[in-house]
Amino acid sequence: MAHTITKATLGLTHPVEIESPKISFAAKDINLMEWKGDILAIGVTEKDMIKDENSKFQNAVLKMLDSQLNGLLSEVSTEEDFTGRAGQSTVLRLSGLGTKRVSLVGLGKGPTEGLTPELKLTTASAIATGALLGTYEDNRFKSESKKLALKSVDFLGLGTGPELEKKLKYTEDICAGVILGKELVNAPPNVLTPEVLANEAKKIASTYSDVFTASILDTEQCKELKMGSYLGVAAASANPPKFIHLCYKPPSGSVKTKLALVGKGLTFDSGGYNIKTGPGCLIELMKFDMGGSAAVLGAAKALGQIKPAGVEVHFIVAACENMISGTGMRPGDILTASNGKTIEVNNTDAEGRLTLADALVYACNQGVDKIVDLATLTGACIVALGPSIAGIFTPSDDLAKEVVAASEVAGEKLWRLPMEESYWESMKSGVADMVNTGGRQGGSITAALFLKQFVDENVQWLHIDMAGPVWNDKKKTATGFAIPTLVEWVVANSS
Ligand code: BES
Ligand code: MN
Ligand code: ZN
Repeated sequence: MAHTITKATLGLTHPVEIESPKISFAAKDINLMEWKGDILAIGVTEKDMIKDENSKFQNAVLKMLDSQLNGLLSEVSTEEDFTGRAGQSTVLRLSGLGTKRVSLVGLGKGPTEGLTPELKLTTASAIATGALLGTYEDNRFKSESKKLALKSVDFLGLGTGPELEKKLKYTEDICAGVILGKELVNAPPNVLTPEVLANEAKKIASTYSDVFTASILDTEQCKELKMGSYLGVAAASANPPKFIHLCYKPPSGSVKTKLALVGKGLTFDSGGYNIKTGPGCLIELMKFDMGGSAAVLGAAKALGQIKPAGVEVHFIVAACENMISGTGMRPGDILTASNGKTIEVNNTDAEGRLTLADALVYACNQGVDKIVDLATLTGACIVALGPSIAGIFTPSDDLAKEVVAASEVAGEKLWRLPMEESYWESMKSGVADMVNTGGRQGGSITAALFLKQFVDENVQWLHIDMAGPVWNDKKKTATGFAIPTLVEWVVANSS
């Protein structure tokens, strides 16, 4: 049974190929009185909303609009925060109305006037992100789906020209990566097997063949590389493991920095013999256990479009399933990783770190300067930071600064947690170099200390535990978390 190729048709489910709706963006330099479309959304400040003793706007532009609309505006007007992320919610609400065209403007004597050129770009970008991601619905597995009405968004008063165009293109590239990431995570584990994930990676490489090369290693090749830790996790599954390696090289010019992005790629995590049981174990959601790899591949897609100079980037995923069968690893088994270190498996449900161990050794062998790994690694991280903040762990203050800065640009939430070396005590094994779990206390920290055993001292490394933010429990959908941060980090390392 084990490792016979099972086609991704189990359950007879196939994703419907949906043409992704295109929203076109245009920055225009026209008077808002002349703009034609369905909805005109205006960014205003609190001050703009002040009315005189006759309940009329004092702001000249609003006054003019209001008189054209016979006083309708002063009756229905509400306030919205216009800058930053708040712009996203404005578009989201408007586009829900079946509107085809929206225009977003800043008033002549209103908020955009005071915006620096930099802030105008950020505002336009936030609104475009809101329109693209706020209107996106993953309907691939529904038998019927509604069509998106929003066709175009015009920006008035946020400037025009190549810089804004470039920023909008960059925003669209990141959103395309985020949507791919969401789709990979949302796909059920009977459809998205390790092989299908590998095919998705190959698709990225062939779409952007000017900058990417792909190599996919099968079980035999991983055996040759002595990846005993990774293969131990994969051993129970009928769907064979696939080790994914994409390499990005800039289209021209020399490479100054070499980076690796390593993602946990468990297409399903049953827990293995330490099976996930009981309420709250979330076994039915464990398709999201490849969220780290979705972040890595989503970033790869975006970067394939952005094509930053001066950086080489390796995208690495040791993809597999954590299942149960007669060929599976047992609690008590000792695995040998590709750096020669031995691991006593005291819990088969701590499988992510076992796959990452060999992936990190492989990443170091690519001669990279810096590694960021991403994983839905521990439930303990959700206990510590809740559902929307990722934990980061690194011995390097410099790399922590870089990644935190990137996350701030991207508007994503990370919090650095300590790598308390004394906790390594709990990872001692009587028979092997280490065990794979150190008990309940400081579970995310001991997991990070485990990973550190597989990273060369001279490589800067940072681990992101994204067990919380990978999934939006209210919306029952993937978030695409970390993709914007990863893109910003790689771009910040480019020249
Ligand atoms: N994929 C899980 C972590 C996880 C749990 C993510 C819940 C999101 C929600 C991981 O493989 C796992 O099972 N970790 C164990 C480690 C433990 C056995 C030391 C955990 O967190 O319970
Ligand atoms: Mn697990
Ligand atoms: Zn897992």
